[in-house]
Amino acid sequence: MADILIDHLKKKSGEHGALKTLASQWDFDAKLIPKALQAVGNLFPHYSRHDESHSRQILVNIERLLGESVSLLTATDTWLILEAAYWHDIGMVVPKQDLSEELQSEEFQDFLASLRQSPQHDLFRFASTFDPSDLAKCFLGADTPTDAVARFNELMAEWFRRKHPARAEAMVRAPWSSAGISSPRTELMPARLFRVLGRICQMHGTSFEALLSADGLPFKEAGMANEDCHPRFVACLLRMGDLLDLDDNRFCPVLQRIAGDDRPATSRAHEDKHQAIRHLRIDRDRIEVSAECQTIPGYLEAFRWFDWLKQETQNQMAHWQEIAPSRELGLLPTLGNLTVTLSGDLQVLQEGRRPQFGIDEKNVIGLLQGSNLYNSAFPCIRELLQNAVDATLLGIWAKESRSALSGEWASPAACGRLQTASPVKVELIESDDPAGEAGKATWFLRITDGGTGISSADLLHMLRIGGSQKNAARQRLIRAMPEWMKPSGAFGIGLQSAFLLSDCIRLKTKSVFSNETLELEMHSPLGPNEGLVVVRRVPNDVAQAYGTALEMKLRLHRFAQSWQIPAFRRDHDSVAAQLVMSMDPLLDDTFPYDAGKMVDEVVAFGKKSPIRVACEFAPLAGEKKSFLADSLAAPEEAGDWRFLPDANGHCVEFRYRPHRDQSASHQSRFLYRGQPFKCNAAYFPNVWFEINLLSGAAGTWLSANRDELAPKAADEIEAVALSALTQAVEADMTRYREESAARPEYWADLSLFLHVMALSEGEPWRGLAAQTGGAWKDVSVIGQSIRTCFDLSDWLLGTGADATSGPVEHCDVSTGSPSGDAVPTLALLAWEREKNGSVQILAVDELNPASASAAGHLGTPAGVEHTMRETRRMNPVLRFSLDPQPYYSDAAFALHLISNARSIGNHRCLVAIRDARWLRLALRKDFQLPATWLIRPCASSPTAMLLPYLFTSGEVQVTPSQLMRLCVRMQPLLAVELTIDEVRHLYEDLITYIDDDLMAASAYAARWRAARSGDGHRV
Ligand SMILES: Nc1ncnc2c1ncn2[C@@H]1O[C@H](COP(=O)(O)OP(=O)(O)OP(=O)(O)O)[C@@H](O)[C@H]1O
Ligand SMILES: [Mg+2]
Repeated sequence: MADILIDHLKKKSGEHGALKTLASQWDFDAKLIPKALQAVGNLFPHYSRHDESHSRQILVNIERLLGESVSLLTATDTWLILEAAYWHDIGMVVPKQDLSEELQSEEFQDFLASLRQSPQHDLFRFASTFDPSDLAKCFLGADTPTDAVARFNELMAEWFRRKHPARAEAMVRAPWSSAGISSPRTELMPARLFRVLGRICQMHGTSFEALLSADGLPFKEAGMANEDCHPRFVACLLRMGDLLDLDDNRFCPVLQRIAGDDRPATSRAHEDKHQAIRHLRIDRDRIEVSAECQTIPGYLEAFRWFDWLKQETQNQMAHWQEIAPSRELGLLPTLGNLTVTLSGDLQVLQEGRRPQFGIDEKNVIGLLQGSNLYNSAFPCIRELLQNAVDATLLGIWAKESRSALSGEWASPAACGRLQTASPVKVELIESDDPAGEAGKATWFLRITDGGTGISSADLLHMLRIGGSQKNAARQRLIRAMPEWMKPSGAFGIGLQSAFLLSDCIRLKTKSVFSNETLELEMHSPLGPNEGLVVVRRVPNDVAQAYGTALEMKLRLHRFAQSWQIPAFRRDHDSVAAQLVMSMDPLLDDTFPYDAGKMVDEVVAFGKKSPIRVACEFAPLAGEKKSFLADSLAAPEEAGDWRFLPDANGHCVEFRYRPHRDQSASHQSRFLYRGQPFKCNAAYFPNVWFEINLLSGAAGTWLSANRDELAPKAADEIEAVALSALTQAVEADMTRYREESAARPEYWADLSLFLHVMALSEGEPWRGLAAQTGGAWKDVSVIGQSIRTCFDLSDWLLGTGADATSGPVEHCDVSTGSPSGDAVPTLALLAWEREKNGSVQILAVDELNPASASAAGHLGTPAGVEHTMRETRRMNPVLRFSLDPQPYYSDAAFALHLISNARSIGNHRCLVAIRDARWLRLALRKDFQLPATWLIRPCASSPTAMLLPYLFTSGEVQVTPSQLMRLCVRMQPLLAVELTIDEVRHLYEDLITYIDDDLMAASAYAARWRAARSGDGHRV
């Protein structure tokens, strides 16, 4: 072994006296260095052999690479090759003194710190507590004394592995003083050559770029006698020879025993890599290696190693002219196949490629982690449930679309197959895991569906983010499906989000398309296995059902860190609530609230899922529970779901309930294919509704995490909801009329809702409202009913009442505040139309002169109670009379002006015209202005004008220049044609009236004056 190079050195040394020295030096070193190398095993028992056999193997590899060309080498080059092969790992020989010195170094502290940041590292636990300055802490990360010794050794080995190339350089220069190696250093050989040798050794551990750089190694250098030597070339040969030391006998069984069965996982990976070598060819023409690994880490290691080999060969080839001493030496051998496979029934997806999630996926998962896109565990699980439901729907369609009658696919209700399909089964099972982290319990989440399963063709698409859209066969099938049944998946990131919860997902799946059964193990792109996907083909078994079972491990707090106490009785059914209510903070060691919460969320998912969801919860302590969630448990307030195939071009399910609370719509629910999302668009007064969108891709409606409406879809969802609401109400009218006598309250609420819709939307709501007549007058109010009030000739309606405050004093009837209750507005309009009567707005103080004295305190900060009283005082009282009366009382008008003067935020106000003097300031009917109504019920008044003031917090402004600009802006919006000057005169009169008459005579005169003087310019 390695005799060719040695013989060549001997032969060449015969050619010149000075060259003899090289041969003598080598004779010494060939005997001395191996003795020293034997000590590598002391610190590195868990490594492949780094003794003389490794050096020899490198030399053999170099001989193979060079072939006949060995004869062209100069004696000095040959000597450098031989010596470098023997010296290069000498840095792994570590004298005790070096150990002690390094332990105290700053650099070593940095190294420890970096290990503490790497939870994936074998030494993470040990390094976390290791402190060289404190013996008491050093070994806290070990369980037994032998463990402590082994881990300490591994820690130091890792440190010296990183440093060994640089150490080798120093040791070559001073072998005796650094390690007691008595390799002769005499004046017979220039020290320069030993320096070159040291640099070559050091360069076996640097990047290729460093080697070639100005600080790297020279191409040519004077050798012994009249020879040249080629340090760069020698270093390159050493690197290749080292990388190619791959054979399957590289580990020493004795050392393996010494390292023990608990040697680091990376060592085992290297062992497997070497064990795996099946074919190795290194000669002048070609390099070929194939490996068949038993384990995934071995597979990854082999892959990495082959990658380096490829890189190194390509780099050297590309720069061969700057490396090789002469053309006659020829080129490096060609790199043939380097193949890695997994043994047995494990399978690689694409020959020669690593089956894995790509780089993009790594970035995306990193982004997902950072972005809080998924801010709790459930959204990730929801993605998996969604996939199971999607696969089941697709499976039903793939298997049965041809055999069923076409009517069956018309709507979800007509499709009996949804009910009979096998439910998505979710199991959450706690397991006894002795290796688990302290404080954490291990749970298995298993989701089983009877859907399409995954074929190897599907798998290729799955590995790419967004790849499902490019799965043509799948898309073709989806295109043919009825709109309502199409799967909800669209973004193609759902599956990856599972890696936020676990490093590894296992699937067993049988495809209805290809009949293959596969076992998949998918690793997180960010985890230690770097996105690897392992596929195991399982022999076909007819007993295996179609579909997919997915399993992952979750680590949840053994005793939950935070929880919520159930607020309502009805929440008590939830698993989480039951856990909370039975928890004993002292005597219980486990409190699996987080898992219970997940079960609740799974059950909630099942509520409106087209495919039923069954859930099983099995904590180690406590009872096992099973649930079958389906839409039976609907909230009682809603009507039945109605399927509407065309709501403004979309297919939806819809249900609603008229409501006397105008803001009920804010609690309306929006779902996309059964799953709720947040939506602030689509508001309609006096109705609560629930809409389930069953058409359009998820991306057109939702944000990527499916939590919210995509902003661009706001207008569309409003149009769809209005269309659905219109259709549903129109279809229900006949039935409502028939049931009106039996359900008078519902009929009244419906009437109220229809009349309010008629006000804002016109037809067809006006027609629908007319069908209910004045039924809205039966909506419950506090006091006399509105209907009986309509028989009186003079009556008062108070507003702003609620269950706690009771009716408004001195009033015949009270309602809620005019902004939340439509009754005052409808009453006002009906009174004018039906009775030809008049309405006046009063201030509540006018009914009760005793409280008027408080008026002066308006706005003084005297506590919450005071503020609430003030707010209530702001609610107008409406006087209904058959006699004519002015639209506002002076007191009401003044009160509202002053209250606007102190409200927050700049705004302008509209007011209904109550005085013929200002009629010419009336706005055109179709005006659109950013202004609010001074007094809410006026909104239904037929004529409006804009007040000239800008209300700011505390001030009421109208400077001459503001007024001028206002006139220019308003003139074109007025109902009658006026000149700018005419507009200005009218406004000036109005300002004089308000400032000097109305407000000056009111209880708020001083405050108004103060508010008005702020800008300093009285007009
Ligand atoms: N349980 C399953 N059965 C069959 N195929 C599945 C299952 N889970 C995932 N897949 C396949 O994996 C693909 C990727 O799933 P993923 O959730 O990442 O994307 P998607 O569902 O297409 O889109 P989205 O991100 O909107 O959920 C799916 O399109 C489907 O082909
Ligand atoms: Mg999905």
